[in-house]
Amino acid sequence: MEHRFANKVAIVTGAGQGIGKGVALRLAREGAAVVVADYNANTAGATSVEIETAGGQALPYVVNIANIEAVQRMVADVVAAYGRIDMLVNNAGVVQTKPMLDLAVEDWDRVIDVNQRGTFFCLQAVAQQMVRQLPDELRSGAALADVLTNQLSQPGGKEAGEPGLAASYGKIVNFSSIAGRHGRALSTPYAASKAAIISITQSAALALAPYRINVNAVCPGIVPTPMWTKIDQDRAELFGAKEGEAMAAFIQQVPLKRAATPEDLAGVVAFLCSADADYITGQAINVDGGFEMN
Ligand SMILES: NC(=O)c1ccc[n+]([C@@H]2O[C@H](COP(=O)([O-])OP(=O)(O)OC[C@H]3O[C@@H](n4cnc5c(N)ncnc54)[C@H](O)[C@@H]3O)[C@@H](O)[C@H]2O)c1
Repeated sequence: MEHRFANKVAIVTGAGQGIGKGVALRLAREGAAVVVADYNANTAGATSVEIETAGGQALPYVVNIANIEAVQRMVADVVAAYGRIDMLVNNAGVVQTKPMLDLAVEDWDRVIDVNQRGTFFCLQAVAQQMVRQLPDELRSGAALADVLTNQLSQPGGKEAGEPGLAASYGKIVNFSSIAGRHGRALSTPYAASKAAIISITQSAALALAPYRINVNAVCPGIVPTPMWTKIDQDRAELFGAKEGEAMAAFIQQVPLKRAATPEDLAGVVAFLCSADADYITGQAINVDGGFEMN
């Protein structure tokens, strides 16, 4: 259990703090070499040091996921360093708290550029690499269908030494949110971007199924991270409430009556990256203490 990701390479975006940091520490603890990707060099470095101090393997990497060329460069650099990519945790994201009627074009673009475009182009660049890594016989999706049919009709028919069919050739986990399940009057672009991530997850799961690359999403509820500290401050400013009141009000509506921890999310992400989840793709899983139930 402790080393189920031995010899695997994972990229975790936004791993400098908050949930991404928790995910990076968890995957590293289970044996993965983790690329700690963040646009904050200091926090990316600090998470990497923490992983290495605990005996894990980490590569800090500074990237703005909204910059598609930079994302493509990251994939090339990771392949140069480790030779392959087995997992992508598409966690980096930004939020904004602003009444819908006051939103400016720049507000919209900033959130959509990072959360929606950035998440998609990270997924695409890593998936292209995962396809390049496939055994020759599987590289064309059409060929895969043939190979599968052959395998089913001729069990044991392969020559010794031929590459076997793995159940999965890559795992991608995208970060949506419970805000992707319903609209939000105070974070409209954020909710739109997180709903889009559920759709992107489903499309990518379909597109990548022939290559046996699994794509799923998680929808966290309330996780006290620097992101939530900012939400709380902004809401306090907007409504004259005390800091902490917004989070407390949300938690009251959570059936399990507590906020999530980064580790709650890290456990589910690790499961989705593991062989136990080889038959799960295209799903968006609420990790929210029961706040949403569909
Ligand atoms: N905290 C919550 O309650 C909550 C709830 C639902 C969903 N989420 C989602 O979970 C993910 C992580 O949230 P968090 O609370 O840990 O956030 P956070 O703000 O604490 O951390 C986000 C990290 O992403 C990095 N980042 C932001 N924009 C980036 C960019 N363009 N390129 C590279 N790195 C970038 C930041 O530097 C930071 O290290 C986000 O996608 C968020 O939307 C969080």
